[in-house]
Amino acid sequence: MNLTALATEAPTLALRGAKVLVRRFTAADIPMVVAQENDRAIMRWIRDPQPAAEVQARAETMAAPWRGADGEWLACTVVPHATGIPAGIVVCRVTVAAHATMEFGYRLSQDVHRRGFGFEACVLLCDHLFTQVGVHKLVALCVADNEPSWRLMVKLGMQREARLREYTHLDGAWRDEFVYGLLAREWQRPAATGVLANPQSH
Ligand SMILES: CC(C)(COP(=O)(O)OP(=O)(O)OC[C@H]1O[C@@H](n2cnc3c(N)ncnc32)[C@H](O)[C@@H]1OP(=O)(O)O)[C@@H](O)C(=O)NCCC(=O)NCCS
Repeated sequence: MNLTALATEAPTLALRGAKVLVRRFTAADIPMVVAQENDRAIMRWIRDPQPAAEVQARAETMAAPWRGADGEWLACTVVPHATGIPAGIVVCRVTVAAHATMEFGYRLSQDVHRRGFGFEACVLLCDHLFTQVGVHKLVALCVADNEPSWRLMVKLGMQREARLREYTHLDGAWRDEFVYGLLAREWQRPAATGVLANPQSH
């Protein structure tokens, strides 16, 4: 896995699909992420409401330089071509560099759901990580109640590999969590998501 290359390109990372651009998160995106953190419809299955200072600090961290340490999230903003307005994020982090494994996640504003944006953004990110960075395995987690999320993973070709019982406490109850996984040799980029652009071309 070429983490050095990913860290080097991270500040200008830009992946273009047919519907959305996935580009590196910047300080200008902080208000969008803070607004999403305060929207229970989006955060219902991610985390319970948190103090404003904590939300702000997390959002600011997303815009900080990314060095690729294990567990450090690399945040990218999803921008639909139709509006040019940031609609959410896709994120990824190295789980164990020595094993070339990474985890990713995603969330979008509710007013743009079910337009294929989440799927395409994930396709662009997964494809880049597998084909350009050399990741061996990608995983993603969601609470079992989050059907839109696990169905998105199924559509990406991921397999449900584990059900972690009562692994997350959300909205007053313990929730089971699903772990989905995808190997590089299993990855097939759907043709409909358009041509991936070289980061330098943006
Ligand atoms: C999960 C999420 C990112 C999906 O984004 P989206 O842009 O609406 O998804 P897409 O339109 O690209 O749909 C892709 C696939 O996801 C699944 N899906 C998405 N929304 C769904 C829903 N409400 N019910 C069932 N399946 C759904 C479907 O399989 C869909 O494929 P299809 O359209 O061919 O049926 C979005 O629902 C979201 O932001 N949710 C809130 C935040 C969140 O929970 N993030 C995940 C944390 S683990």
